[in-house]
Amino acid sequence: MNGKDLVFLDNAASTQKPKSVLERINNFYSSQYANIHRSAYTLAENATQEYENTRKKVQNFINANDVNEIIFTKGTTDSLNLLSYSLGKYMIKEGDEIVISAMEHHANIVPWQIICEDKKAKLKVIPINSNGELILDNINEIITEKTKIVSIVHISNSLGTINPIKEIIELAHSQGAYVIIDAAQSIQHKKIDVQELDCDFFVFSAHKLYGPTGVGVIYGKKELLEKMPPYQTGGEMIAKVTFEKTTFNVLPYKFEAGTPNIAGVIGFGAAIDYISKIGIDVIDKVESELLDYAHQKLTQIEGLRVIGTAKNKASVLSFLIDGIHPTDLGTMANAYGIAMRVGHHCTQPLMDFFEIPGTCRASFAFYNTKEEIDILFDALNRIKKLLG
Ligand code: ALA
Repeated sequence: MNGKDLVFLDNAASTQKPKSVLERINNFYSSQYANIHRSAYTLAENATQEYENTRKKVQNFINANDVNEIIFTKGTTDSLNLLSYSLGKYMIKEGDEIVISAMEHHANIVPWQIICEDKKAKLKVIPINSNGELILDNINEIITEKTKIVSIVHISNSLGTINPIKEIIELAHSQGAYVIIDAAQSIQHKKIDVQELDCDFFVFSAHKLYGPTGVGVIYGKKELLEKMPPYQTGGEMIAKVTFEKTTFNVLPYKFEAGTPNIAGVIGFGAAIDYISKIGIDVIDKVESELLDYAHQKLTQIEGLRVIGTAKNKASVLSFLIDGIHPTDLGTMANAYGIAMRVGHHCTQPLMDFFEIPGTCRASFAFYNTKEEIDILFDALNRIKKLLG
């Protein structure tokens, strides 16, 4: 990039794709393509089989109890919009409370604000400390018998903080609330067992897990999904339509209206195979070493301040350098071939908490190297000399 070897440190935004994923999509479009779920010919039957195979792969990947608990969406944002709409319609009433945290992505704030406004419910926020960790001391005053839903991020996209979700799930359940885990930033780094976690819903995107864009997942407990109304309506999601009345399809199709991203879902299956072959534990270990190394190295730069210093962190290093705007840092780093995200990272309330306009964020995947972190270190030192 810009005449330099690419140093791709924007993996929290999206990951690069393995050849096996690209080849799978190419083969599917080249010689196996047809619409799914609606035809009697072999090509369509095989395409349906492949699409449904990915559902099974996702089920195994997160250890869901039942394959019909896996719903395909467009991505994490779509998953959260579906859940807020459907749960909001199904169970939120005036005076109810919904709990999120101070480090949520806008996608896990705005949909709940809209539901709360619609239903005259209240949105409550779990606060954080200056390290970017949840403050759980007074959690019993935040999650109460009025709480109907707790929707919380597993790993913060801006800070890298790993939240104690198991503890929060238990607490919320003790008050009779349902829990949604936003796993957009954890599915690619941590081994997940939704049954062990006992969360009610768990959402993530394929594109951060080395798969294509435009594909996301909702895991939901079957007994809840069965009771919830559909989000989008149209083809596929119906059982019977007359002009008088429509009845809805069974799970998971009730929540998958219209022709889905067939090739994307099939490509995602190849991404899960790829990740499973390497092993998420191996990935986690490599990335932890990279994060530790980056932390040690970058904090040697005078005037560099790390935003997000939680004890339990994964894969994200957000920082500022005294006297340099984060956008200038990112733009200059670009000239050295370094790809990093700068700005508020879709977490404006979090930036307000730290009283900063944004950060410069290096986020790592297992294919990154210590040498790349050295290149970042050298580039930042040069930029500091020029602009600092
Ligand atoms: N939510 C993604 C990020 O943090 C896009 O960059």
